[in-house]
Amino acid sequence: MEPQQIQHVQQSFAGIFARKADLAERFYVHLFTRLPEARGLFRGNFVKQKAMLTAMIASCVRNLDDRRTLDEIGAQLVAVHAHLGVGPRETEAAKRALIAALRDVLGAELDPETERAWASAISRVAGTMTRH
Ligand code: HEM
Repeated sequence: MEPQQIQHVQQSFAGIFARKADLAERFYVHLFTRLPEARGLFRGNFVKQKAMLTAMIASCVRNLDDRRTLDEIGAQLVAVHAHLGVGPRETEAAKRALIAALRDVLGAELDPETERAWASAISRVAGTMTRH
């Protein structure tokens, strides 16, 4: 990722950090709209699940310029999702759901350049979820 793109992502995330619970809420609304069958996969405490999602996003955002750490985080995500059959279709749904959630929370602040920067960041991390 370009340093400027990293900055766009980090700045916009800093702006919504206080609203990260809304971001997680909207992410799962969009994910389950696109992938209704995924809802049944979540068996644990969903409040905790949302907190883990935002912690994961925060740690990715913080480490966008650190290739090694980002790869480690990607490997963790692969491990967590390995038994769930998360393939390219599900990964694509997750990418779209996260962009849609960002749009819900950021509104007009999600300008096209910032959106492209997020798309690139999500592909960088989520792309590793289907790696074996
Ligand atoms: C942007 C993509 C995604 C991110 C960042 C993400 C992140 C996470 C995180 C942080 C956890 C908690 C891990 C832990 O327990 O320590 C998790 C669990 C889980 N994720 Fe994802 N996830 C993504 C996409 C998906 C997709 C597409 C699905 C389903 C099709 C999915 C289904 C699940 C399920 C079912 C769990 C609970 C696993 C369990 O309890 O064994 N995730 N995810």
